[in-house]
Amino acid sequence: MAVPLIFRSSVMVCGASMCGIVGYIGDKNARTILVEGLKSLEYRGYDSAGFAVFSADGRLELCKTEGKISALEKKAAGLTGHYTCGIAHTRWATHGAATEVNAHPHISSDGRIVLVHNGIIENYVNLRRLLEAEGVVFRSETDTEVLAQLVAKFYEPGRLVEAVTSALKSVQGTYGIAVMATDMPGTIVGARNGSPLVVGIGEGTWCLASDKSALPAEVSKLFYLEDTELVCLDDDGYRTMSLENVEIRKEVLEFQYEIEHADKNGYPHYMLKEIFEQPRTIADCFRGRILPEQGMVKLGGLAAIEDRLRDFSRIVITACGTSWHAALVGEYLIEELAGIPVEVEYASEFRYRNPVIGPETLVLVISQSGETADTLAALREAKMRGATVAGIVNVTGSTIARESGCGIYIHAGPEKSVASTKAFTSQVTALALIALRLARMSKMSGSQGMSFIQELMRLPEKMERVLEQASAIRALADEFKGQSNCLYLGRGFHFPVALEGALKLKEVSYIHAEGYPAAEMKHGPIALIEKGMPVVVVAPRYGVYEKVISNIEEIRARKGRVIAIATEGDESIRRHADVVFHVPDVIEPLSPLLTVVPLQLLAYYITVAKGLDPDMPRNLAKSVTVE
Ligand code: M6R
Repeated sequence: MAVPLIFRSSVMVCGASMCGIVGYIGDKNARTILVEGLKSLEYRGYDSAGFAVFSADGRLELCKTEGKISALEKKAAGLTGHYTCGIAHTRWATHGAATEVNAHPHISSDGRIVLVHNGIIENYVNLRRLLEAEGVVFRSETDTEVLAQLVAKFYEPGRLVEAVTSALKSVQGTYGIAVMATDMPGTIVGARNGSPLVVGIGEGTWCLASDKSALPAEVSKLFYLEDTELVCLDDDGYRTMSLENVEIRKEVLEFQYEIEHADKNGYPHYMLKEIFEQPRTIADCFRGRILPEQGMVKLGGLAAIEDRLRDFSRIVITACGTSWHAALVGEYLIEELAGIPVEVEYASEFRYRNPVIGPETLVLVISQSGETADTLAALREAKMRGATVAGIVNVTGSTIARESGCGIYIHAGPEKSVASTKAFTSQVTALALIALRLARMSKMSGSQGMSFIQELMRLPEKMERVLEQASAIRALADEFKGQSNCLYLGRGFHFPVALEGALKLKEVSYIHAEGYPAAEMKHGPIALIEKGMPVVVVAPRYGVYEKVISNIEEIRARKGRVIAIATEGDESIRRHADVVFHVPDVIEPLSPLLTVVPLQLLAYYITVAKGLDPDMPRNLAKSVTVE
């Protein structure tokens, strides 16, 4: 029986890729549950969104729109019925612009199949050509639409699982999908390959989502689908199977629904809230892990490799973006404290070279979200080559956390702002703990360990003192907002801080910024400096201080405007810099935890001064789940 379709899109055409998906069957209103779920997944993309829901009498309604979930919620307000089953999607465009037409769900041209997708169908051009030759009419520019059309091609009434498995056998690429058939209201088929999918179960409730934060309060149990596994949800419960349609038994875990600390707590933006949370979040990272009397740390997550820590002759750290900058600080920390050679690799490059790693290598994989596709691929490559892998992850139960085998959670709490701030400082804190652990096995004495821990424990209070300068930093923002270029310089431990400061500024304010080792400036970037160009120099008072002052003079000689980050008490730097912000004194290996904070605040306030939204910058997503 054909089911009437009511399309609420003004233009009825459709695909996407790096995204978040939710599916729900239950007694509550599916429309509300799905939209709430999408809000939790907005970090995965926010350029367009949509959902399809079945009412109790089997009518399907489709609602999609360009823009954020708030726009979808507004548009969906007119859907006043009670809906008991549905699928939804928030998109970050890869194939096809962020238009309503390309937004999900996609409906097959025969109107029988509705589908949402997270991932990339790599052979979509060929598949589309083949389907078009058979007379299928495509509406969107997306890779996803071929999946909906393919499932429809194989679909026989009542046999959705079979149609989905047949379709998936023809595709190459990554997917996390949720599929419904218009003649099977109340059934959702989900499948995963490369893109995460978790299934939630509760009293009269069956659902699936890209991550557990999107599961509704009714859920009390969950399980994760592995690659090439499918799940079929309906009023009778769930069945899991392989692509060959062979039944699979899953380990079901208890799930405690938690209301996320997702409100802004009085701050105008999550970014500012998260910057101000840092004194607490770094303490949360080391609390319970430090043994001050022994100058030692206890890292339960590394217990599985405790006996072998001594055997690793080298360490490779891999990550992307801000996590990669934390990895660079980690390199300095581990080499300085423990004397073990460390290399830092962009996860996005890792598997496309021929990295020299093997059983003697410990690979540390850093990811806030635990879902970054490039980082996950690097983790798998490292394992495949026989390395021992440990994760440094924020989101518990995320794919990287689960696949790492061992590691440590940074306990930073939910990071909502796309620009990562508190995760960076917690990652560096976790790396400091690992460095200390390794150092105490070799060249660091107990008393040195004790003073390192004392310094660590004093950091939250020192960070509070840095945050007290927020209004002075805000006062500078107006001056900056008209700039189109900016340079960030630092040496040693502060070179990664310069990189991170520049990334923060460009990703939220859209001002072009470059981070450089200060001494490298004269090898090229100095050509950029002209009258009034802002140059942020991270110049705390450590070994190379005098050399950094010389670098500042080189900038001044070319009339650049110098904003210096200096050590408290260093007033003489005012003779060289135009503007100075101070951070309390601390041992050098821990100083990035303080010097990065003014740079985070600077990026935030400049963005606000420009009238932009720092929490959701254009073209970005919090978690990059495609290659
Ligand atoms: O979740 P991950 O730490 O793996 O994310 C890595 C990067 O995508 C992320 O740090 C990105 O660079 C942020 N937008 C930086 O603020």
